[in-house]
Amino acid sequence: MRHSCEAFGLDIQECEWVYKPAEDTFLMLEVLDTFELEGKRVLDMGCGTGALGIFCSLQGAKVTQADINEQAIACTQANAARNGVVTKIIQSDLFENVPGPFNIILFNGPYLPADGDSSDPMDQALVGGVSGTEIYERFLEEAVSRVGMKGKVLIVTSSLARNDEFNKWMFDHGLGSSIVKSHRVFFEDMFIIEVGKSIHSDNPIE
Ligand SMILES: C[S@@+](CC[C@H](N)C(=O)[O-])C[C@H]1O[C@@H](n2cnc3c(N)ncnc32)[C@H](O)[C@@H]1O
Repeated sequence: MRHSCEAFGLDIQECEWVYKPAEDTFLMLEVLDTFELEGKRVLDMGCGTGALGIFCSLQGAKVTQADINEQAIACTQANAARNGVVTKIIQSDLFENVPGPFNIILFNGPYLPADGDSSDPMDQALVGGVSGTEIYERFLEEAVSRVGMKGKVLIVTSSLARNDEFNKWMFDHGLGSSIVKSHRVFFEDMFIIEVGKSIHSDNPIE
């Protein structure tokens, strides 16, 4: 596994109050590096520093990037300029202000379980609700319809989230999931999973 943005040809500056690219970012970049992205409409939800969407843009994708955190929006704008790409950058709570269908939607979202609401940007980057996957449940309801049957929705999750509840939620909503890539970091397994209506869940997340 490659452990830096530079390894993917990116020049990403970290910003205060914005999630810094980490193992989950790099795992998603490894998956994106195997895709044919030229001409694809890609949404990078929860863009943070912008690394994922900027990578897709450098491969020729038409990219929209969204984040709820205004510092992440400023950071993504600065990093897009730094890397010489133009992406559409929108401050939004999930799809609230994001128009359009996409071929690929990515969300390295907050997936850790914790009680209580917080407006702190670093908590918002990490905590996905009491189960850890509540934000993904809200996201997936819209994301799968925005990509249609031929598109891809990819998310990052972890063995630290309550995946038994998440697997059941997906099943109850007619969604299947497939683990595209996984990586062990100390006490945690990280997964990139693809979720969709036509995916058969033969390897549920644990
Ligand atoms: C784990 S960070 C990932 C950042 C970046 N994509 C990366 O891979 O390095 C999660 C991001 O999701 C954003 N986020 C959290 N809740 C959100 C929401 N409701 N709508 C949009 N973005 C959200 C956070 O602000 C944060 O930037």
